[in-house]
Amino acid sequence: MFTNDTLKGRVALITGGGSGIGLEIATAYAKLGASLMLIGRNEERVQAAAQAITEAGGIAVARKTDVRNYDEVKATVEATVEKFGSLDILVNNAAGNFVCPTAELSPRGWSTVIDIDLNGTFHGCHAAYPHLRQSKHGGSIISIITMLGVTGWPQAAHAAAAKGGILSLSRTLAVEWGGDGIRVNTISPGPIGDTEGVQRMYIEGGRGELEAKKTALGRFGKKEDIANAAVYLASSLGSYVTGENLIVDGGRWLKYVAA
Ligand code: COA
Repeated sequence: MFTNDTLKGRVALITGGGSGIGLEIATAYAKLGASLMLIGRNEERVQAAAQAITEAGGIAVARKTDVRNYDEVKATVEATVEKFGSLDILVNNAAGNFVCPTAELSPRGWSTVIDIDLNGTFHGCHAAYPHLRQSKHGGSIISIITMLGVTGWPQAAHAAAAKGGILSLSRTLAVEWGGDGIRVNTISPGPIGDTEGVQRMYIEGGRGELEAKKTALGRFGKKEDIANAAVYLASSLGSYVTGENLIVDGGRWLKYVAA
């Protein structure tokens, strides 16, 4: 479906690009011709990811950046444009989460997740905007959320509120920035079996089989499923799609509603 030049000439900045879904998206983008800036809090991890992509023939650099710090994000966006000449795609993928009953969640625990997920996404969008509007391909922002941000997420109120906020922010920006040629979309992955989050939150807790059965397809997804959606939305194939929340969850959401 995708050809080697699907993302040729595009520059993408991926937050949390050193591991998990972020790295899978980075790897797919690089194979399809994009130049990448990978950012994360762990310098070693993002550098290793960029090196692996470069060794495989892609174009990638990395920079330690904490999405909670607007000045750092802005400096990294500017360094990306200086290095590659433009910024065409922003993927807001960095996230933090842990399981905790809300009554036991400290205010700092709440703020920490809101800061990474929701404020971090705002920081990325705001800092990238002047460059995305100049993209000759039309800018594209993709944020990774979850339908649990819509349904509610018992034991993860902080992450649910943050993801719901990102959905709202994205729809607002799709309308505000549509005239600048910037498309703003979200992807809602379901349970993706080969991620640290699902391993930690479901599989290690003995809930793997139960969670897989909650999907219409009866199985976990793969990181590749999310990367394919992220390629579609970033490329010209998705050029008339904005304000959309692309649900890639094996029917988990629908089964929740229909059951
Ligand atoms: N249960 C309850 N509270 C927790 C917690 C847990 N499992 N983990 C962290 N917190 C609280 C801390 O107690 C602290 O609050 P306090 O000062 O009132 O005690 C607050 O959250 C900040 O914790 P800290 O460890 O200083 O934050 P951090 O910035 O180092 O870590 C997190 C960020 C909390 C998101 C951490 O879980 C993390 O880095 N996770 C790895 C990445 C990740 O979650 N990826 C998402 C996969 S879906």
